[in-house]
Amino acid sequence: MTSLRGGTTSLLVEMKNLSVSYKEGVPSLRDVSFSMKPGEIIGIVGESGSGKSTLIRAVLGLLPVGGRYTGGEIVFRERVLLRDSQQDWQGMRGKRIAMVFQDSGSYLNPIRRIGSQYVETIRAHLPMSRKEAWRLAVHTLARMGLDDPERVMHVYASQLSGGMKQRTAIAMAATLEPELLLADEPTSALDVTTQNEVMSQLSRLCADKGTGMMLVTHNMAVAAHMADRIGVMVDGRLVELGDTLRVISNPTHEYTRKLLQAVPELEGECT
Ligand SMILES: Nc1ncnc2c1ncn2[C@@H]1O[C@H](COP(=O)(O)OP(=O)(O)OP(=O)(O)O)[C@@H](O)[C@H]1O
Ligand SMILES: [Mg+2]
Repeated sequence: MTSLRGGTTSLLVEMKNLSVSYKEGVPSLRDVSFSMKPGEIIGIVGESGSGKSTLIRAVLGLLPVGGRYTGGEIVFRERVLLRDSQQDWQGMRGKRIAMVFQDSGSYLNPIRRIGSQYVETIRAHLPMSRKEAWRLAVHTLARMGLDDPERVMHVYASQLSGGMKQRTAIAMAATLEPELLLADEPTSALDVTTQNEVMSQLSRLCADKGTGMMLVTHNMAVAAHMADRIGVMVDGRLVELGDTLRVISNPTHEYTRKLLQAVPELEGECT
């Protein structure tokens, strides 16, 4: 596969034997290795506590308090991040690597209009006039399915519903066309219909811009629908990683089989 950016075929992310522990507990990531090509979407599934959030936070150097790297390497675009200073890592956040969480919408500043925070975020990373940034924001909000994006730009976050806030936060993360979007259950707090809609909009946006995505989800059906490859985590280990169709039709790990049995609509694809 060739990169959508600059025609290089180099890997986007390489994780080599990464281990992470929190203060007293058992390791939360154990010897995790995988690589990801530019523009690829990897879905990460696994039960609660298996290390999914730790894994994608590790890529951004944002481990929760008490977490520390105990071994391994993370390479982003051929640059070894764990050896870099936090400042270098900082330079990647937002622009080259962006992240959305289940509750990203609730982190919007409640006392500033959406438009002013959105325009400021864009202009912090891209050389644009206010007017251009405004236009880009409105365009992206519309693409994320917000009906009246101009109105959204003029209101305060508190005047938007939870779903609208979350769509806005996802749009903001995608606007800067990051090379990698880390998404941790980005739609879990939304109702099922909205979830599907936001996921489709997000995947279209990523495809247009060549953005690679690591998508953590509890939902195997969502992963199957969205991802080029699916990774399965059990107890801090990546026990299975393969092309989506292969994982669905011929899972090698018992836990993957269990996950698939719980999704009746995928059963037809297993045969
Ligand atoms: N801040 C923390 N301090 C101590 N232990 C933590 C912390 N965050 C996570 N852990 C532990 O690390 C392990 C992996 O947690 P993680 O949050 O990565 O799992 P997860 O797969 O994202 O779970 P969920 O599906 O519930 O979000 C768990 O055993 C958890 O208890
Ligand atoms: Mg989690």
